Amino acid sequence: MTIIAPSILSADFAALAEEIKDVDRAGADWIHIDVMDGHFVPTLTFGPMIIQAVRPATKLVFDVHLMIERPELHIPNYVAAGADRITVHAEACVHLHRVIHQIKEAGLPAGVALNPATPLSALENVLDDVDMVLLMTVNPGFGGQKFIPQSLNKIRGLRAMLAERGRGDVLIQVDGGINAETAPLVREAGATAFVAGSAVFNERDRAAAIAALR
Ligand code: DX5
Ligand code: ZN
Repeated sequence: MTIIAPSILSADFAALAEEIKDVDRAGADWIHIDVMDGHFVPTLTFGPMIIQAVRPATKLVFDVHLMIERPELHIPNYVAAGADRITVHAEACVHLHRVIHQIKEAGLPAGVALNPATPLSALENVLDDVDMVLLMTVNPGFGGQKFIPQSLNKIRGLRAMLAERGRGDVLIQVDGGINAETAPLVREAGATAFVAGSAVFNERDRAAAIAALR
């Protein structure tokens, strides 16, 4: 089973609650929420106040992807705002192991994200502690970019690494350039959770767009 998580980065921000309700009705599994701070990535999106404001729009899981520096300072605010799971970037955490446990102690599943240039070896010492690994399949910061084909080998490598550790339960999430053409490729390589921004929100018929990804 594949988890489909539309990214609200490509939604109409002026009608965010309605956009979330629309993809909920259209069959989304999670709502992917891209938090960007203008430092870790060039773009600045939104923070906990907006997340809290749209929380009543759906019962779906809020899958919060923090593309921010020093996430440990802000995690309690995202938990309070209604995040159901939190993913931090390995590149943004000096004390990654501590941050993962901070998320888990708050009662939420913890994810670690890797940029395209970050090797899988960055996960070596935390793989036993995570619930999900997010492999960026574009460089983070913008929606609508082209899928990086080398990502397929990285997904296969992670799948093998998880099997070796007896951690086949860890979700492999892919994020960036996922559409009806790339979805079958990442699925074949071993990805289990798909983020899709433009491929869902740029389509008028969101149900058809989500069905095409499945
Ligand atoms: C990129 C974000 C993604 C983005 C994906 O920095 O993390 O979640 O919204 O957008 P698409 O699916 O359009 O590549
Ligand atoms: Zn994301």
